[in-house]
Amino acid sequence: MQSYRSAGLHVAAIMDGNGRWATRRGLPRCAGHKAGIRSVREIIEAAPDLGVGTLTLFAFSSDNWRRPKAEIDTLFGLLSRYLRTEVAQFVDNGVRLTAIGRRDRLPRGLAAGITQAERETAEGQRLHVRVALDYSARDAILRAVKAAPDPQTLTAESLLTLLDDSGTCTDVDLLIRTSGEQRLSDFLLWECAYAELYFTPCLWPDFGARQFALAIDAFRGRDRRFGGLAPVPAVGAANVQWPANAAVTAPQPPNPAHRSAPLMPAAGE
Ligand code: FPP
Repeated sequence: MQSYRSAGLHVAAIMDGNGRWATRRGLPRCAGHKAGIRSVREIIEAAPDLGVGTLTLFAFSSDNWRRPKAEIDTLFGLLSRYLRTEVAQFVDNGVRLTAIGRRDRLPRGLAAGITQAERETAEGQRLHVRVALDYSARDAILRAVKAAPDPQTLTAESLLTLLDDSGTCTDVDLLIRTSGEQRLSDFLLWECAYAELYFTPCLWPDFGARQFALAIDAFRGRDRRFGGLAPVPAVGAANVQWPANAAVTAPQPPNPAHRSAPLMPAAGE
């Protein structure tokens, strides 16, 4: 059975603010997408050393079809070029790349580029990069339920494996959204059930390795309870002041259905 957790943290990013970044500089919006690719490169490079095992990037939502055709075409062109130029480096650096979302509406060249990149990087063990393209979480959940051999025996865990064609989907530990917007926009709704959310005003093209490390630091400082109670300090721990009427309750083990990566990855992860 597939685990809910990945080796290392699963971090997802809604890479927002490319258009505003460009407009503020008097540039066409696509210049923002181009600059956004630099950020993608930086965080992919930084991820393994920060304890990240899986990185899911929202590159094109199913709602983005509402944008002008010229912007969509340029974005797809950038993505195709990115795949062509980056794959050799992914292979060298142990990065596996896969895509989630619908492929039937993508330009044929881009869909073929994804398939080729998936094939060439399949052995990558250091970092799994998942690019969400023509992606809608609601649509992904509906398709997964319909693909289940027997909906009556479907479990939270088996549904998770059906959400990604590669069968390697895990719960998201940390969801980052740049540009100051604070919503999920139909991204990984099932996988983010217990994700920590990190919103930053930084526009995506300005989000680099340093900002990424700050986000991971913030995550490591969060108290993840998965519906249970905060850990109780050991008896006799120095400086612990219990309120007079506090009920001292043993910490609850996490519900296995909410299993996720540990705050500190184990050695070797
Ligand atoms: C949202 O910003 C961003 C996108 C719709 C595209 C994201 C794509 C990239 C960063 C390009 C490369 C991706 C990969 C994986 C190589 P927006 O255009 O909505 O910005 P705005 O809200 O300021 O208008």
